Amino acid sequence: MDVKKLLSKMTLEEKASLLSGLDFWHTKPVERLGIPSVMVSDGPHGLRKQDEQADHLGVNESIKAVCLPTACASAASFDRDMLRQIGEAVGDACQHERVAVNLGPAVNIKRSPLCGRNFEYFSEDPYLAAQLSASLIKGVQSRNIGVSVKHFAANSQENRRMSSDSVVDERTLREIYYPAFESAVKEGKAWTVMCSYNRLNGEYASQHRGLLTDLLRGEWGFDGYVVSDWGAVSDRVKGVHAGLDLEMPSSGGANDKRVVDAVRAGLLDEKDVDLAVERILTIHKRYLDNAKPETEWDMEAQHELSRRLAAECMVLLKNEDGILPIAEGESVAVIGKFAKEPRFQGGGSSHINCFKVESLMDALEGVPGITYAQGYDIVTEEPDEKLIAEAVAVAAKADKAVIVAGLPDSFESEGYDRTHMRMPACQVELIRRVAEANPNTIVVLYNGSPVEMPWIGAAKAVIEGYLGGQAVGGATKDVLWGTVNPCGRLPESFPHKLEDNPSYLSYGGEGDVAVYNEGVFVGYRYYDKKKMDVLFPFGYGLSYTSFAYSNLCVDAESIKDTDTLKVTVDVTNTGSVAGKEVVQLYVGDCESTVFRPVRELKGFEKVGLAPGETKTVEFELDKRAFAYWNVQLNDWHVETGEFTIEICRSSRDVVLAKKITVESTVELPAHFTVDSIFLDLMKSPKAMAVLKPLIDGVMQAMGMSSESDTASSAISKDMMEAMIRYMPLRSAASFSGGQLSYDQLAGMVEMINQA
Ligand code: BGC
Repeated sequence: MDVKKLLSKMTLEEKASLLSGLDFWHTKPVERLGIPSVMVSDGPHGLRKQDEQADHLGVNESIKAVCLPTACASAASFDRDMLRQIGEAVGDACQHERVAVNLGPAVNIKRSPLCGRNFEYFSEDPYLAAQLSASLIKGVQSRNIGVSVKHFAANSQENRRMSSDSVVDERTLREIYYPAFESAVKEGKAWTVMCSYNRLNGEYASQHRGLLTDLLRGEWGFDGYVVSDWGAVSDRVKGVHAGLDLEMPSSGGANDKRVVDAVRAGLLDEKDVDLAVERILTIHKRYLDNAKPETEWDMEAQHELSRRLAAECMVLLKNEDGILPIAEGESVAVIGKFAKEPRFQGGGSSHINCFKVESLMDALEGVPGITYAQGYDIVTEEPDEKLIAEAVAVAAKADKAVIVAGLPDSFESEGYDRTHMRMPACQVELIRRVAEANPNTIVVLYNGSPVEMPWIGAAKAVIEGYLGGQAVGGATKDVLWGTVNPCGRLPESFPHKLEDNPSYLSYGGEGDVAVYNEGVFVGYRYYDKKKMDVLFPFGYGLSYTSFAYSNLCVDAESIKDTDTLKVTVDVTNTGSVAGKEVVQLYVGDCESTVFRPVRELKGFEKVGLAPGETKTVEFELDKRAFAYWNVQLNDWHVETGEFTIEICRSSRDVVLAKKITVESTVELPAHFTVDSIFLDLMKSPKAMAVLKPLIDGVMQAMGMSSESDTASSAISKDMMEAMIRYMPLRSAASFSGGQLSYDQLAGMVEMINQA
């Protein structure tokens, strides 16, 4: 397929026809020129291919497939390699099923625990989301299947999802909401990007040229096509000019005609249409040239993979008295509807039609000493006394009780946000009553987003299992009985209560307007700055073994912002079983003129260690690890000064730390006016060269000198200095008693700005 040649042969109508779907899941063919239709299908943690009745909400059946751990779970692995394996599995399924593009990963930031789609998203932290999604992308695309990184951009709520306007300042976008997309493009080389439904600062993402062209292509070098989220198009003609190449699903020809008419009327440049066609066909070609429908899709093997991976996503939150792992031969009462019918994926467009599902009870088949009680129902929140009594009875007779609880499907889904962070009342009551009957009570949670745990004191152990995919039951058994040593870490903070969350006051928005008031202080960036107690911090997770850290080394005490810093640290498994540790590196700016978080994740590595084994973990930090987004420069900027390099077990548990100095090589462009205040002028060597005599004069006139302390008392000196610091330059004219004119000051400003 020679894209340029094809393009030159196409009529305007044919070109416009390629800019929207044939139906729900296919692009249009151009038979005359031998251009085939290709199929795209949902992901991201499996393949949702709909053959017949199509919809984007996961209502109608799709073909049988494998559900791997969802993003909320796989993010907890902190394991790039795992994400790559998930991607490869999805890529193989797509090759087998002739699907050219898998519609994922979804990389939006978890601004609030309430977002209905949090289960599909990775983290509250941009670095973690960026690293993991890039690995997933590399996995899928290693199979010559494209991804569609979604939903670009600032789509962190479901409330009014097709109309809401995310109002976010530029620095916050750059530091928090963009990085996962940026790395998907730069590092992952994503074939396609899906724009979101919402507006960003007043403009629909689907027609936002700043987003889809200037940033995505101009700055980041994206070379694939942008597809609309399903039904996200408002003004198609504006969208084509903005850089939205493919509209999905079909517009029934209406928008194709609008595009043709706009070109004919001179309202849209045909070059914009050509560009979009070229991008779409280039991606088609990448797939078509490498299509391998003969690829084997071994679902049983993928099920086993899913089980192995899910176990390594689980986060051990509590393990009092080392109650876990359960020893062979101990009698265990397994309680909870989810132990037989696990919740392992979320509702909506990512919903997989699993070829099989493995529950904890399935995995325990044939194991002696296991009893079961349902404990709660999922259709009602009300505690059911009969079910609770049965559960209490089996728990009382067993060595240990395992309650499998969490959030029912109706509590969280694509399409709507949660209104609270509570678990169903029937489960909370069940946990309390079972724990009274058996103090050795263990709680396993299946949920896509944090929950409040008012019952935490009653449970001896807690495992956060997230939504672990179709083999979650086997994985749960492996972790409970210690076949797998838990090694997941929380990819998000668990606040004690919803009201603690930084977005609480404005989440969901007023009408269509959702102002991201908390700025860069999302998740742990907020809790750490506020020194607020949380239930479990970002990055937290326990193990059945213990790890010790030593030898934190940096290869320089002082670097320039153009240098790279190497950091090494030794980690030792000091326990008696093999385990994996997630070594986390955070960077903090000790002093800064802009508001910055205390620490930010800038590196992580997962290392497997045998008992007694030590490994050295190495990190490389470049400018970006120290920088904040400077709106004046419109670039990343590092302020000269000291930074902390912290090796942590979580954002709240600093194990080793060092300070280094970074020197900026960029001088901020200073543009002064007569309204500039002395404080800012005095920071600029250029300004001081011109203004020193004037400042001395002002100080003397006010009874002070810049060299000696002539003021009568320290308080008045402080006060006077403050008065001068915050004075605009122009005031010097008013206070000089006619010695200085406004025009003279304006002349000085001109000299400074030209220097
Ligand atoms: C979702 C997308 C999905 C698309 C197609 C939309 O409603 O937001 O994530 O890929 O439908 O199913």
